[in-house]
Amino acid sequence: MAEELFDHVEGAAGDGLARLLNAIANASIQIRIEMPHLMGFSDGSNKYGEQILKLDEWTNKFLCDTLVETGLVRRIYSEELNAPVEGIPDAPYVVCIDPLDGSSNVKTNNTCGTIVGVYEKEVGKGSEQVAALYKLYGPVTTVTYSVGKGVHEFIKQRKGEVKFVLSKENMRLPEKAGVYGVGGKREEWPPKLREFVDSLEGRGMKLRYSGTLVADFNQVLHYGGLFAYPKAKLRLAYEAKPLAFLAKEAGGKASNGFKDILEVEDDVDARTPLFLGNGKLIEEIEKLK
Ligand code: F6P
Ligand code: MN
Repeated sequence: MAEELFDHVEGAAGDGLARLLNAIANASIQIRIEMPHLMGFSDGSNKYGEQILKLDEWTNKFLCDTLVETGLVRRIYSEELNAPVEGIPDAPYVVCIDPLDGSSNVKTNNTCGTIVGVYEKEVGKGSEQVAALYKLYGPVTTVTYSVGKGVHEFIKQRKGEVKFVLSKENMRLPEKAGVYGVGGKREEWPPKLREFVDSLEGRGMKLRYSGTLVADFNQVLHYGGLFAYPKAKLRLAYEAKPLAFLAKEAGGKASNGFKDILEVEDDVDARTPLFLGNGKLIEEIEKLK
């Protein structure tokens, strides 16, 4: 029988993280049920000045409640909240969430996802995460996680009980880079980076850009290559650090253009340039100046 998510995480990291990651995975069921009913904007905006969708608001609240209910979470930092949610004092984990990544794609019915980084005690450097995962609400729901022992993908079974079963174990970025996606406007990129991006097709890579970070990273994880957002738009703690943790565990790298994202120390709400993917490409980008 195919291995289930809880057992896989428990075998690698014990009961606590297994219960936590399993609860986050299972929350997808309700999130997908609500999706068609919560189109349109709410009345609020987040700390980045972005208008919040009804679905952003609902997903954030539902995920925060789910995390607190596990009894395992001391504090939750969310991209959508001005202040952290206090969970259970002395509980083992502190969690950073991007509840609905790529929510501008909700309007056009393209894929969006959820990103989670888990720490013990308090948020620290990305290298101090004890787990990271992302979920993709695509044609099927997937959960891709790491507890520092490789990267593994689970897929939600289509029928019957709530079950996420192993679809890919010990994922590695393919050595031959197949795809690239670079966000923002070319005029915002340093000239040498523009030249570098222009050279990628000559090296056999194809453009793939969806506008949802996790969906674009997921393509890089499967096909090899590069995701970049050179302007400091993406969020360090909620987006960059968890994906950097996964990239490294899959044999790749993540950088802000100068330094390994996993070693960057900055405010929990900081934004960062992000370059993610095959190690050789990221090293070339770091040398461009
Ligand atoms: O969360 C921010 C985000 O939606 C990412 O998921 C995505 O990579 C990026 O913004 C897309 O930005 P743009 O709309 O500028 O391409
Ligand atoms: Mn996001």
